[in-house]
Amino acid sequence: MKVFVTGATGYIGNHLAHTLASMGNEVHAIIRSDKAKELLQHPNIMLFKGDILEKESLLLAIAGCSQVYHTAAKVGVWAKDPSLFYKVNVEGTKNVLDAALQNGVEKFVFTSTCGVIGSSLYEPMNEQDPLNTSFALEYDLSKKIAEEMVFQYGGKGMNTIIVCPSKVYGPGNISHSLTANAVINMFLKKRVAFIPWPGTYKVCFAFIDDIVKGHILAMEKGKTGNKYILGGINISYRQFFDSIRAISHCRGRIIQLSKATIRRWAVLELMSYKITGIQPHFTFKSSAYIFNNFIFSSEKATTELGYKITPLDEGLKKTIRFLKG
Ligand SMILES: NC(=O)c1ccc[n+]([C@@H]2O[C@H](COP(=O)([O-])OP(=O)(O)OC[C@H]3O[C@@H](n4cnc5c(N)ncnc54)[C@H](OP(=O)(O)O)[C@@H]3O)[C@@H](O)[C@H]2O)c1
Repeated sequence: MKVFVTGATGYIGNHLAHTLASMGNEVHAIIRSDKAKELLQHPNIMLFKGDILEKESLLLAIAGCSQVYHTAAKVGVWAKDPSLFYKVNVEGTKNVLDAALQNGVEKFVFTSTCGVIGSSLYEPMNEQDPLNTSFALEYDLSKKIAEEMVFQYGGKGMNTIIVCPSKVYGPGNISHSLTANAVINMFLKKRVAFIPWPGTYKVCFAFIDDIVKGHILAMEKGKTGNKYILGGINISYRQFFDSIRAISHCRGRIIQLSKATIRRWAVLELMSYKITGIQPHFTFKSSAYIFNNFIFSSEKATTELGYKITPLDEGLKKTIRFLKG
């Protein structure tokens, strides 16, 4: 099977591309720079120079592929130019959908995010639940707009399925999109973790291997026009770091920060960006957003796709081993 994977140089897409290639598929992947070649060294992965904002490059890369996994995105809470979220996540997605339709692609899996479902009160949110607040992040809003477009293309004769990962962790490099790994790494190396006060807000942590399998299951068994949450373990920040402590034997400190402190920190990060060029990890808007529960149910994916969730201890052991090198 020939499959096209966008975002194959990114965290999720890279794991996905290698898994698909090792299953014997011919994977077509686009790279934006030659530097990325080393990330995709596999005899079954064919590289094409491209960008989802350049339609012609997509047509060359997608030729002959019957399946598309569209994982590429502008991810994060901040961008110097916020319109980039819309450009990449909405216009870029439209370009990939157009190229897929033009090429007679049978099935299209779009990687969205649980951020489009939003925060929860106390009960796990599912695919149908309405957003209970306005979008705090340009990123989430742009993904929501892209989701609607993906389903519209479903009506044009292509099978389109959406998967929504929750907060992903697991072996892999630390990046701005991989905030879970960044905080685990900071705890292991700098022996400190900052969590929102009180440490009882819950987050749904999903292990990377489950996310990759979830994408492949969605391609195999997902029903067109359907959306599937690919979640994990719903656990409080406090319990999450207690588990890391127990597994790693790291005696790091867990410091609970108030909303006001995190907001001040966000302002300092923005000021320091102007001097150092280091991208802010959170913004004034996103700092309020983290004072919420993000509890998600993966029941639909479990029942309809056979999605499985790795126990937290098992996922954390693998992640800690990787991060410790
Ligand atoms: N990580 C999470 O916790 C998480 C949670 C929920 C949903 N998601 C979703 O999962 C997907 C993958 O996330 P990730 O964590 O793997 O992100 P990532 O590591 O930041 O990777 C993003 C990928 O998108 C590519 N990309 C960005 N702009 C592009 C463009 N104009 N043309 C071509 N490629 C472009 C990047 O290419 P370059 O290498 O060239 O920059 C990279 O391969 C995203 O759709 C994200 O919304 C992630």
